[in-house]
Amino acid sequence: MKNVEIAPAKGKLGVLLVGLGAVSTTTIAGVLAIRKGLARPIGSLTQMGTVRLGKRTEGRSPKIKEIVPLAELDNIVFGGWDIFEENSYQAARTAGVLETSLLDQIKPELEAIKPWPAVFDQRYVKRLEGPNVKKGKNKRDLAEQLRADIRNFKKDFGLDRMVMVWCGSTEVFMKESAAHQSIDAFEKALEANDPAIPSSMIYTYAALMEDVPYANGAPNLSVDIPAMMALAQQKRLPIVGKDFKTGQTWMKTVVAPGIKARLLGVEGWYSTNILGNRDGEVLDDPESFKTKEESKKSVLDYILQPQLYPELYKDLCHVVRINYYPPRGDNKEGWDNIDLVGWLGYPMQLKINFLCRDSILAAPIVLDLALFLDLAKRAGMSGIQEWLSFYFKSPMHAPGLYPEHDLFIQLMKLKNTLRYMVGEELITHLGLEYYD
Ligand SMILES: NC(=O)c1ccc[n+]([C@@H]2O[C@H](COP(=O)([O-])OP(=O)(O)OC[C@H]3O[C@@H](n4cnc5c(N)ncnc54)[C@H](O)[C@@H]3O)[C@@H](O)[C@H]2O)c1
Repeated sequence: MKNVEIAPAKGKLGVLLVGLGAVSTTTIAGVLAIRKGLARPIGSLTQMGTVRLGKRTEGRSPKIKEIVPLAELDNIVFGGWDIFEENSYQAARTAGVLETSLLDQIKPELEAIKPWPAVFDQRYVKRLEGPNVKKGKNKRDLAEQLRADIRNFKKDFGLDRMVMVWCGSTEVFMKESAAHQSIDAFEKALEANDPAIPSSMIYTYAALMEDVPYANGAPNLSVDIPAMMALAQQKRLPIVGKDFKTGQTWMKTVVAPGIKARLLGVEGWYSTNILGNRDGEVLDDPESFKTKEESKKSVLDYILQPQLYPELYKDLCHVVRINYYPPRGDNKEGWDNIDLVGWLGYPMQLKINFLCRDSILAAPIVLDLALFLDLAKRAGMSGIQEWLSFYFKSPMHAPGLYPEHDLFIQLMKLKNTLRYMVGEELITHLGLEYYD
């Protein structure tokens, strides 16, 4: 097989983070700590993952980072925006995810990362209010200010390339509308201060206009509209989203394929969570929760395929709840009750109680996405990067296709894409040759 031409990862990679909250600061502090040898990059495919190449008999399973040229952690520079003025050290302390003893060992580096004033409008995130916000005559002007921040970041740190990852709050639920249908309509809407353009879309537009690939970690529409897809195609930029797949939904996309594989019926799946961080507070607003709920609920329909198996899944009752409960901070607790139906219609129950740490699960995803998006751009891949669906609750997909939610299919797709990039044979798991 012929390999794809991939430009080398020379120089520095700027990682632009929108929102310096729990997820972002856990990512930044994590990368700084790993760089200093203070911690290990557990949970990151780009840092720890391997990929089998060739036949099972060949014994070739190099690390992913040994077969594709990824930016080194030492060459990453972080920058970002937030509506609060706290630097990354203070913001990490506020988030309360990492121990102060670890943060203190990287304090000067964290303190140096101060958020630029944000583009923010409370109309789209009702529960937040902060002082570090840009003013502009219209949304176009705000987009220009973000573009200037991006250019200055590049110049000030002598960056070779950049990527942007949205780690800002979940906005109110919005549907695609006329302003989102083309680049032209979108630019006119920016000028006219159209309410159909939330803050997240202004960042997306600014990123793409500055030739920066974009990943969307929240369920916001953001890059998932025809105008942005057209802009990404025009500029030959990779884009990906949406909503990091971390705790309960990740577990759902592990367990549901197993149930389906055994053709067990599911009558009901009740998922509830308690969460006490700022994200939990934002999601306590019904309009922001609606955006999250849509994203969390879609996975079962696609995995279980009720249209193919109506007897097993047609009447499935799927309920998802998130309750804001401050005492737990970032340590989310999720409960799932699954009402199963087995042979001859006999009922069974499966209970999952997951005591996880939201940002500890999200940080390696942010790092991997930053490095893989940068790789995709250097490999000339543009538009939706479906091979990165592995990282998302609501993976973006081409029109007319259904999204792939099964975690194991997603991982196979990711690894086959890496094999394809380096001209190695794709692995189908047929394996008849071993028995010839
Ligand atoms: N942690 C997870 O497991 C997980 C999983 C999936 C999705 N997410 C999403 O990732 C995002 C970040 O999560 P978090 O736990 O870090 O939340 P957080 O509240 O700690 O951080 C979000 C930050 O974004 C800032 N912000 C909001 N709007 C902004 C804007 N327009 N410009 C700049 N900054 C803005 C907020 O001030 C806040 O500091 C949320 O949307 C969350 O839903 C998180």
